[in-house]
Amino acid sequence: MNKTKVIATIGPSSSSKEVIQELIIQGMDVARINLSHANYDFCTDVMNKIADINEELESNVAVMLDLQGPGVRVGRFVSGRAYLKAGDRIRVYATNVLGDNTKFSVNYPGIIDDVKYHTVIKLDDGAITLTVIDKEVDYLLCEVMNDGVISDYKSFNAPGVVFRLPFLSEQDRRAVQFAHKMKADFLALSFVRSSDDVLEVNDLLIELGNDHLGIIAKIETESAVEEIDDILKVSDGIMIARGDLGVELPMERVPVIQKSIINKCHIAGKVSMVATEFLSSMESGIRPTRAEVSDVANAVMDGTDAVMLSGETTIGAYPIETLMMMEKIIGSSEEDINYLELLDTAMRTEKQDTTGVLAYSVAECANRLKCKAIVALTMSGYTARKMSRFRPGCPIIALSPNMETVKSLALHFGVVPVLVRDLSSFDVIMKEAVRVTRELVMVDSGDKIIITGGYPFQEVKHTNFMKVEEL
Ligand code: PGA
Ligand code: MN
Repeated sequence: MNKTKVIATIGPSSSSKEVIQELIIQGMDVARINLSHANYDFCTDVMNKIADINEELESNVAVMLDLQGPGVRVGRFVSGRAYLKAGDRIRVYATNVLGDNTKFSVNYPGIIDDVKYHTVIKLDDGAITLTVIDKEVDYLLCEVMNDGVISDYKSFNAPGVVFRLPFLSEQDRRAVQFAHKMKADFLALSFVRSSDDVLEVNDLLIELGNDHLGIIAKIETESAVEEIDDILKVSDGIMIARGDLGVELPMERVPVIQKSIINKCHIAGKVSMVATEFLSSMESGIRPTRAEVSDVANAVMDGTDAVMLSGETTIGAYPIETLMMMEKIIGSSEEDINYLELLDTAMRTEKQDTTGVLAYSVAECANRLKCKAIVALTMSGYTARKMSRFRPGCPIIALSPNMETVKSLALHFGVVPVLVRDLSSFDVIMKEAVRVTRELVMVDSGDKIIITGGYPFQEVKHTNFMKVEEL
């Protein structure tokens, strides 16, 4: 059973019930829908399908909605795309025009004021570069620097230029309300610039009375990289969004930023996830490159909680094969994670309170006794999150009577969240722990598991016991 979680973005290639079901069977933990591309009808349809399949398969796949954020995107093109040729001139309008190979629009009226002559513009995560050569009242005249195909709603970046946009547009406010209404589990925030941006969303969620939506700040601007420590404090998790990050900053800085942020998240006890282009070549073929395989393996060995697929599963021809390949690489790489080092980092930076010290002892004990599972009883998810931070070598089965808690653990490394009904007496807890373990993990008689949590359940707020159970 793999411990690193997988987020798969759902798009046209993967929105049928059959494909979603197969993605779930093959190990998708979280389904992401990117609101830069998808409309509410699409989201509702996919979310209903996931709810149905979760019920049929007794799975707990969570849903992440990803806000467009104050990023700029190109508009639509005649027949969805246009071929741009190096040396050609192209007009960039701040008003709505249907694009072709001589013009296109962007969804930001301030663009003409914000850029300067010679500003470099990157389209589609940097696939095409334009240079501004003239400014008119209603358009920018640009020179195309390299050949490429641009299609509807692809990204538009001007590295070094800060767009003067409020964090939450009217459209994104509606999207937050939609996520609340639809009971989404995670909300990813694109183009976060500072902790204030995250707090603006938190305020809106408080207004809506929503206390369970997990907030994931996407790090994809230069200022987010600078402000990471403050952003971490106010977010539930961090996504290293390498697509835009590698355009906003020199690409060659992305690997070290990735490693540094994963480490910071681990120390802060927040979930980390790495996104974009892991297995891009599988959008059109069934074999990844060696470099792509290495990239997945390195993210896993760095200790990330989750990895994400985007184009591979939204528009790629092989969404299921790609997910299976990713799981295969994860499984193999997890054998080489330095669990002891991660445990040591967690211990050195942990609060020396009862829960922290107990979680450390449980992880250490599980490693030394080669336990097959740690069963964590958890009301709010706190015990399970703490256990995950200590990165024990065996799975952490999190039993909770609360569905929101179960879903909130979908991104945490090594945690297998399970909904249970009754956890009233110690006797019931022990029996449930053994029953669920036998269902989920291959065990022989004589194998050991550790059961941990706070008892009396629902009364104490911290972890206060561990029991080693021989099967
Ligand atoms: P996106 O975010 O897919 O919404 O652009 C991820 C990234 O930029 O890497
Ligand atoms: Mn992005």
